[in-house]
Amino acid sequence: MKITKCLFPAAGYGTRFLPATKAIPKEMLPVLTKPLLQYGVEEAISAGLSTMAIVTGRGKRAIEDHFDRSYELENQIDGTSKEQLMDGIRNIINTCTFSYTRQVEMKGLGHAILTGETLVGEEAFAVVLADDLCDCEEKSVLSQMIEVYEKYQCSIVAVEEVPKSETKKYGVIAGDFLTDDIVRVNDMVEKPEPKDAPSNLAIIGRYILTPDIFDILRDTKPGKGGEIQITDALLEQAKQGKVIAYKFKGKRFDCGSVDGFVQATNYFYNKEK
Ligand code: G1P
Repeated sequence: MKITKCLFPAAGYGTRFLPATKAIPKEMLPVLTKPLLQYGVEEAISAGLSTMAIVTGRGKRAIEDHFDRSYELENQIDGTSKEQLMDGIRNIINTCTFSYTRQVEMKGLGHAILTGETLVGEEAFAVVLADDLCDCEEKSVLSQMIEVYEKYQCSIVAVEEVPKSETKKYGVIAGDFLTDDIVRVNDMVEKPEPKDAPSNLAIIGRYILTPDIFDILRDTKPGKGGEIQITDALLEQAKQGKVIAYKFKGKRFDCGSVDGFVQATNYFYNKEK
């Protein structure tokens, strides 16, 4: 079955960007003129997905407004040179469906994904963490991952090599290389200290998950940081040989940190000017 849905966990507080994120969702912070979440949605569209499922929380209404018509504004700029600035978002609104659910308590990424079950149902789906902003020369990271999914028909995580000193910021995998860029995963650890990391292959915020993940998540106990971790749930699938890690081709910016956000801004500015 073809993947059509993309889940965006977007309920987090974004405390690293306070005070900017006091009243604005972190997913709405712009790199140049586009909010982070719009980059994520555009990546999903580029991979052929058209149903966007967003897990939000309190104080996140700006997200819904962004992916909706704004008649008053559109009326103001109709026929002016500003109109074209809205082309991208208009196209998104015309071609995709958006659905929302709220995560009432912040119990971790695994819990956020489980909260999205009601929007996703019984089919494989993609997950994008919008604060990992990616840029690729040919195919987007999600497009590359969907090709891998079509071949292996199991959960896929995107990984990249990171310095060992940084493993404690990521889920880290280990396994058997099937090709230069494809690993059959047999171990996964959430945010290990460098000495405990099974490799330096870090998961970035792109996943393709098979729907059995929801039952696993329901049984997953709180892990690192007392939160329900998607990494722990995926380890259950990995034990059955059902997780592939894919070393994607492209660049990733950690826009959840101020440094990464500034790097992304400079990169896209230089690319687009
Ligand atoms: C989450 C995941 C982690 C993954 C990371 C990618 O962590 O828990 O396994 O490596 O996203 O960005 P977070 O960055 O939300 O703390």
